[in-house]
Amino acid sequence: MFERLERMPDDPILGLMAAYRADPDARKVDLGVGVYRNDKGETPVLDAVRKAEAAVLARQTSKTYVAPVGNAGFNQSMEKLVFGEGHPAVQAGRVRTIQAPGGCGALRVGAELVHLAYPDATVHVSTPTWANHVPLLTGSGIKLERYAYYDAATGGVNFGAMMEGLEKLPKGAVVLLHGCCHNPTGADLSESQWRDVLALVQRRGLVPFIDMAYQGLGTGIAEDAFGARLFAAGLPEVLVAVSCSKNFGLYRERTGALSVISQTPASAEAILTQLVRIARTMYSMPPDHGAAIVQEILTNDTLRGLWVDEVGTMRNRIAGLRTEAVAQLARAAPQRDFSFIARQRGMFSYLGVTRDQVRELREKHHIYMTDDSRINIAGLKSDNIAYFADAVAQVVT
Ligand code: LMR
Repeated sequence: MFERLERMPDDPILGLMAAYRADPDARKVDLGVGVYRNDKGETPVLDAVRKAEAAVLARQTSKTYVAPVGNAGFNQSMEKLVFGEGHPAVQAGRVRTIQAPGGCGALRVGAELVHLAYPDATVHVSTPTWANHVPLLTGSGIKLERYAYYDAATGGVNFGAMMEGLEKLPKGAVVLLHGCCHNPTGADLSESQWRDVLALVQRRGLVPFIDMAYQGLGTGIAEDAFGARLFAAGLPEVLVAVSCSKNFGLYRERTGALSVISQTPASAEAILTQLVRIARTMYSMPPDHGAAIVQEILTNDTLRGLWVDEVGTMRNRIAGLRTEAVAQLARAAPQRDFSFIARQRGMFSYLGVTRDQVRELREKHHIYMTDDSRINIAGLKSDNIAYFADAVAQVVT
């Protein structure tokens, strides 16, 4: 049976982790997979997580099943975190949330729901988008197309082209939007652009699917949720997939959630039963541990305050590295403008070098980034940022 199966190519992002680990060179720099790192290059367990974890374990008396919907308290806390206290859609009973195995699980459950509701559905993703969006969403059976998004000339959003593309979509088309910290470009919509997209989506009857994997790492916890909150209040139907991997540092615990906003409490209830069925048929129940930790943090004022501070530290470090990277690149490669890096948000930027130059950076300088020249800004450190800038200068001149 299995003889016919061919070897798959390495994952474009995760494949780099193995290559980096195998490189013995002391100068190596990991700008590949999107994990936060401190100035020592470590991805530590957050203090709030350690404390919450101790409390959860001390209290836990059983490992029996929770439920396909996951931890109900976590789901409620995530709704508050994502939509804010007293959001009108939540108050109107139009929102249902299911815990999922990470942001990936949330995206896939959402795609399965769309496919169930409308088997001919097409999801439209930005050009470019996170590499894993493509297999993750199309694995459900829905089709995928692309709309214009990134403007390499400015390092910002080509908003005119984006709007022109969305304007042509048929009613009911699903549009995947990055809630904040666009992966892979770091180019986000401004608040006024979110409002313009909302007006278009309302007029054209589109269904937004917002992927928010970096809440708190862009501008602020509430600020980063601006688009999700605006859309949930202004539209009859929205899907929002969120991840706790980055902002809670819970990567391996696979903690995320999917919220679905629908027109009435009755349809919201029906949707929840469908979500539960989808979960049951794919993985039965999500893993509990990470969600229990997040629930503990979000419902305990002291832990929440500690977590807010820790998210702020991560966000400020990334913003500082963006400024420093621009300064170092201006020193090393003054003929080229990298100032867009400081205008972008979140972990990622496109460096804007060719595939061959990416290879040269990897092979000659031991600097790892994905083939499309996406860099994880958080992988830079005070002791490698000048080395990085000098190496980039060598390959671009
Ligand atoms: C990334 O984009 O590097 C992260 O979201 C990790 C992943 O799963 O790809």
